[in-house]
Amino acid sequence: MAPTQEALYRNIDLDLSWSERDLPERERTKHVHRLHPYLGKFVPQLVEALLTRHLPQARTVLDPFAGSGTTLVQSLESGRRATGVDIAAFNCLLMKVKTRAYNLFALERDIRDALRRLEGFDGRAPERPSRYVKAWFAPRAAEELLFFRSLVDEYEHADVLRVVLTRAARSARRTTHFDLDFPKEPQRGEYWCHKHRRHCRPVERAEHFLRRYSLDTLARIHEFARVRVRGKEATVVHGDSRDAELPSADGVVTSPPYPGLIDYHEQHRYAYELLGLEDRSSLEIGAAASGLSRTALSEYVDNMSAVLKNGARQLAHGGPIIIVVNDAKGLYPAILEQSSLELEERITRHVNRRTGRRSGEFFEDVLICRARRP
Ligand SMILES: C[S@@+](CC[C@H](N)C(=O)[O-])C[C@H]1O[C@@H](n2cnc3c(N)ncnc32)[C@H](O)[C@@H]1O
Repeated sequence: MAPTQEALYRNIDLDLSWSERDLPERERTKHVHRLHPYLGKFVPQLVEALLTRHLPQARTVLDPFAGSGTTLVQSLESGRRATGVDIAAFNCLLMKVKTRAYNLFALERDIRDALRRLEGFDGRAPERPSRYVKAWFAPRAAEELLFFRSLVDEYEHADVLRVVLTRAARSARRTTHFDLDFPKEPQRGEYWCHKHRRHCRPVERAEHFLRRYSLDTLARIHEFARVRVRGKEATVVHGDSRDAELPSADGVVTSPPYPGLIDYHEQHRYAYELLGLEDRSSLEIGAAASGLSRTALSEYVDNMSAVLKNGARQLAHGGPIIIVVNDAKGLYPAILEQSSLELEERITRHVNRRTGRRSGEFFEDVLICRARRP
């Protein structure tokens, strides 16, 4: 990519500023990174580059805001162990499924058996739909999802099937095609679709999604098994990073929640409803629901400092803490100060936002920090 005037002016690191052509979607969503949609993750190639540049000797990496597990997956791929912490139960489930080392033969047997039983489904699930399920799914889609859910517990690979179930549920919701992230109301009838430029109708079945995602999940786990380094494992902690007990690590790579932007539980509401997962959204740092008031921003600074201090305590030999952030509110100088971290380097990168309906230039910073010596 040739340096533009803007890139030079802003001192942008072009090696970390991939265009769509440099890094097409297929690569950004390689193997297990596409097991389930997740709004707010970073691209795996960024983590890869940061691990190579800044943590070449590290054997264990910590991510206190592990989300969909990008840091964990890339650590395993590069021969490192990793620990990921997240407050959202669904994110922890997803990370476990992405990072577990599988007996691929047994996994395939479970998936194919569940699909065989789905094929014989007579249209009536053993359980009645909840209010949420009745509102958000067409009657036949609801029966298919509830039937699949009733099978899941019987299998050794129940968690993999749970992720297939929620991915299918996401696609089968009564939503418009252009508002899959945070639909407010169920879409019951035909609508004008901005994405496809024609009239579309909400989905009525889930069975084809269950089938397609089961096979896709299997293929992606196979693909990851081919590239991950044998014998390296990830630990997933479902907890609050401000006070969770963390194992020691050689460095941190993380992208924190930004204030007032995304509600991380809410984006997977269907998963919490279908799987009965515990909701700890009141402990989410920077939740969109908390807004951007002065009090909310000052709480964000205190909370982020608590997490970074907790993370820094676990670092052997003063390893680096790498934070990927779009600090639009200019809060990070105060956060680093309060956490007793020193900024060693600040790298700016251009973010390619080709997906979604957002447009305009977008940049983010990579802050390379280290705990200040006493
Ligand atoms: C920007 S996302 C991280 C995305 C991640 N880098 C990825 O690629 O998937 C921030 C994450 O922080 C989590 N989080 C928010 N508050 C938390 C807390 N108190 N303790 C642990 N995790 C928290 C959210 O649930 C969310 O998954």
